[in-house]
Amino acid sequence: MKIALGVSGGIACYKSAEIVRRLQDRAVDVVVLMTKGATQFVTPLTFRALSGNKVYLDLFEGPSSGSDFEGAFDHILLAQSIHLFLIAPATADCIARLAAGLADDFLTTFHLAVAAPVVVAPAMNTRMWEHASVQENLKTLVGRGVRIIDPEVGQMACRTYGPGRLAPVEEIVDYVMALLQRSRDLEGRKVLVTAGPTIEDIDPVRYISNRSSGKMGFAIAHAARNRGAQVVLVSGPTELDFPNTIRVRTTDEMRRAVLQNVADADAVIKAAAPLDFRPKSVAAQKIKKKTANLVLDLEPTVDILKELGGHKNGKVLVGFAAETENHLKHGLEKLKAKNLDLIVINSASGPDSAFDSDMNHATIIDKSGKTEEIPSVSKEIMADKILDRVVQLLK
Ligand SMILES: Cc1cc2nc3c(=O)[nH]c(=O)nc-3n(C[C@H](O)[C@H](O)[C@H](O)COP(=O)(O)O)c2cc1C
Repeated sequence: MKIALGVSGGIACYKSAEIVRRLQDRAVDVVVLMTKGATQFVTPLTFRALSGNKVYLDLFEGPSSGSDFEGAFDHILLAQSIHLFLIAPATADCIARLAAGLADDFLTTFHLAVAAPVVVAPAMNTRMWEHASVQENLKTLVGRGVRIIDPEVGQMACRTYGPGRLAPVEEIVDYVMALLQRSRDLEGRKVLVTAGPTIEDIDPVRYISNRSSGKMGFAIAHAARNRGAQVVLVSGPTELDFPNTIRVRTTDEMRRAVLQNVADADAVIKAAAPLDFRPKSVAAQKIKKKTANLVLDLEPTVDILKELGGHKNGKVLVGFAAETENHLKHGLEKLKAKNLDLIVINSASGPDSAFDSDMNHATIIDKSGKTEEIPSVSKEIMADKILDRVVQLLK
């Protein structure tokens, strides 16, 4: 296995040397790319000596000694030869350049040429980390399937305390190894994912819906695609992007889209939050404001998950439960009632609420009632943890 390690110019650069060593201990060949900024903190010689490989800095240096490639296209040829691209530490500046799609040095040009999974481990001062532009840039990267290893909370080199410190080296190395091992473990499989809320009309201008953002379902779709699956995503209204998405509005439309695409699926992951109720009738005209005490007469929508559970045909079926109380009890009841293989239980209220959050804390329960507690992690990491379980069940 061979990976490229991008090192950008932050104080945590010295930890990248340790990352190289730890990956080599696990038989991974590491090629280091440095930004100009990074060379202010650690010399290329350090990485050259540790990795035993040429260190890439300059796009324009041309054919060079130590390179495996003959010519001026190292950034393209190297990009095609690696199994994973890790950037650690990733500075605010580097993250911005990656998000903007710049190609103004070796590392950023290389990033555009890479087809392998990309993992970014940011490290910066807490105020920088919390800055809206940094968070927006990270969101952009996540939307393109880049995985983020969030920094940890701790004492910073700049003598402040808070989130922004590079994730522990061991965690980064474990993450990379897990990703390398499972990089194509869904190859040849079809995974059907649902995401987002649904909408039910009240009248021509009003509707009822819920607070689901779709982030969890989209994260699962990206992760499954990165692992080699053919993914079909059925999504209610969200602002998120995924290449193969069937957009729906109502619970009934979601049901139809799911049923049309489920036949040859190996696994169905229902991360959507379709409405359980809809108005019995939709008013033909806008309901006037003067209507006193408007009462909506609601009827249940079809339970898509339960319907799928009744015709599983060997598929792995994963459901989600957003609970506000008695999470485990209600989750287990749902798993049994709907004949699921796994259920992922989130909190739908309080500080831990999964709704519209980039982080998720969940419990996964299997058919035997065994629980796996997943502490607060990004939805991308959560997606891979859920897929790990799906892969086990598919074996
Ligand atoms: C002493 C020092 C420490 C720095 N540490 C960080 C850091 O941890 N994270 C960060 O995003 N920027 C940090 N910076 C700012 C970056 O070095 C700066 O944005 C630079 O342009 C990054 O260049 P690069 O993208 O080429 O790596 C630091 C700057 C200095 C002078």
